[in-house]
Amino acid sequence: MNVLFEVNGCKVDVDVTPRTTLCDCLRNELGLTGTHAGCEHGVCGACTVIVDGTAVRSCLMLAVQAEGSSVTTVEGLAKDEELSPLQHAFRKHHALQCGFCTPGMLTTLHALLTEDPWVDEDRIRDVLSGNLCRCTGYLPIIEAALDARTYYQQAAGER
Ligand code: FES
Ligand code: FES
Repeated sequence: MNVLFEVNGCKVDVDVTPRTTLCDCLRNELGLTGTHAGCEHGVCGACTVIVDGTAVRSCLMLAVQAEGSSVTTVEGLAKDEELSPLQHAFRKHHALQCGFCTPGMLTTLHALLTEDPWVDEDRIRDVLSGNLCRCTGYLPIIEAALDARTYYQQAAGER
């Protein structure tokens, strides 16, 4: 089936089988391998992308369901090869080790902080409970999110 949607601001037109997941489409058809395939059944959060502003598990969504949508992957967070403020905060707080979970953490947090720039720590912890990290530990990730909040608050003030 032919599917037309937008990825990181660019229109894409892909030909996929109806059962192709959005995750496989992004990785295999579009070469966007920053979206990681972990459990592939909705548990780990590694495959999280942002679809029309909402954090979505791309292993649970079919590519054909993305028709007409705007999708942001981890590759779309940085602008002009500059790390985003959230990515800077991850680096500053050493919020990753192997990095496997990191794309999903970043997209999940970006969606959350964009929607609610004044989100509190409890809510950040609650939302991140759906993203599994097996090697870093969550404290630096939460510290990075709290640090990056200032940027999202400023950006919201300018909207
Ligand atoms: Fe999608 Fe684990 S790969 S939730
Ligand atoms: Fe290795 Fe999270 S940094 S799984």
